[in-house]
Amino acid sequence: MTPWRPGQRRPDTASMIRVDQAGEYGATRIYAGQLAVLRRNSSAAKLISRMADQEQRHLHRFNALMAERGVRPTALQPIWNMAGFALGAATALMSEKAAMACTEAVETEIDLHYGKQLEDLGEEDAELATDIRQFRIEELEHRDVARDAGAAQAVGYPLLTMAIRAGCRIAIGLSKRI
Ligand SMILES: [Fe+2]
Ligand SMILES: [Fe+2]
Repeated sequence: MTPWRPGQRRPDTASMIRVDQAGEYGATRIYAGQLAVLRRNSSAAKLISRMADQEQRHLHRFNALMAERGVRPTALQPIWNMAGFALGAATALMSEKAAMACTEAVETEIDLHYGKQLEDLGEEDAELATDIRQFRIEELEHRDVARDAGAAQAVGYPLLTMAIRAGCRIAIGLSKRI
């Protein structure tokens, strides 16, 4: 492990935890919106419930890290509450495939985001890095579940994907700072 030297930039782990907690919170809200719309016995609802449970675990972990380390949550939480739910409900209203396209798009961005964080962390903060590494694996599983469930067959898939991914990047950028 290379020790940190003065003059080197230390990764801003408080900001990392803030944006990750916001993202996992957003994920739980997206799935809540989808589950509110989808028929409970539909195959999509079954897949989504399982993924939603994992998002709940991710969120709990970041909540705990926040409390332990005195990191404040993003001030945008109320917006992610509504925007996440609305995105989930809207995609589920379009179709089950569109709901899956939503998951695929979101998890694609989250994978890039967690990958970048792990790079920035390097050897620092092994505790945080371990969680991010584990969660990243699970997010990739979600992406693959959505792919296998026919995300790409959603009507307007390319545009939908582009819009959701852009939205995620904006949400990530804002939640790091605000
Ligand atoms: Fe997650
Ligand atoms: Fe996920």
